[in-house]
Amino acid sequence: MARVFSGIQPSGTLHLGNYLGALRRWVPYQDSDDTRFCIVDLHALTLDIEPAALRAQTLDTALAYLAAGLDPARAVLFVQSHVPAHAELTWLLECTASYGELARMTQFKDKAARGGSHQELVRASLLTYPVLMAADILAYRTEKVPVGDDQRQHIELARTVATRFNARYGDVFVVPDADIAPVAARIMDLQQPDRKMSKSIPSPAGRIDLTDTPDEIRRKVRRAVTDTAAEVAYDPDRKPGIANLLDILAAALDDGGSPAVLAERYASYGALKADVADAVVALLEPFQARLAAWRADAGEVHKLLAAGAAAARAEAEHTLGRAREAVGLLAPA
Ligand code: TRP
Repeated sequence: MARVFSGIQPSGTLHLGNYLGALRRWVPYQDSDDTRFCIVDLHALTLDIEPAALRAQTLDTALAYLAAGLDPARAVLFVQSHVPAHAELTWLLECTASYGELARMTQFKDKAARGGSHQELVRASLLTYPVLMAADILAYRTEKVPVGDDQRQHIELARTVATRFNARYGDVFVVPDADIAPVAARIMDLQQPDRKMSKSIPSPAGRIDLTDTPDEIRRKVRRAVTDTAAEVAYDPDRKPGIANLLDILAAALDDGGSPAVLAERYASYGALKADVADAVVALLEPFQARLAAWRADAGEVHKLLAAGAAAARAEAEHTLGRAREAVGLLAPA
């Protein structure tokens, strides 16, 4: 039984990629491991986000966790900012990480590059983001972190920081391992199949939101970008649009059929798209029913989050206390 931690930022509407790559993947860990799943609202503040939207999306993300089958009786479900120890531990870890290793992070370089000549507008928190993520993980003495491949470098940083802290101050942190999702769990944008389906792309045409109606899902799948060859084959490099649809189909059917084998069933893109749409509609139907039920019981959800935060606080404060003592902060009388 490993100690497990993961989280999603409430930075937009959750989509099919979040469901297949994260939420659905997390559910079985509850049976085998000691799990915590967090809504990382402080991370969302690295983006330009309306306060009212952040608040609403934080609750929506909690509803999606519950609707996906995360179960407060077996997993600790909570909101990151409800546990102040994350922010405080971040400071101690920022004093352990170096500027150079943060500036080298690919995600930071990409996001800072988007600021172009306006580096004054690049938030300092984009640089320190992975340290907050390390604090999330290390506060719970986490052993296993289920994440997508894009987070590999951030987990590596958490390992580096934990190892350095322990060497300098004594054994406080557990060095965590990443548990990387298989490639097929990575769902791409339907309009731009070379990029990941994303909460933060403003145009929703390439994204299947978890709240989309069956009609919206069918329309988006029908309009998904393909290619002109009109031959169904699984070739992610040469036919990224079709490969993505086959990945989605394989993941939604979840019956062990590989995307390459599924490809052989189809003589036309139209037939493939129709089946993809049906499979996604069928996959999301029970999820959406549970989502509606939880939404109608929002008072209960707030209570569950409060209980989750209380449990998380006890654990995180314990680790934080050890870290404070290790670095030499004078304990208050
Ligand atoms: N950075 C992660 C992402 O964007 C979210 C995240 C924050 C996270 N803290 C975490 C994931 C801790 C795993 C563990 O996907």
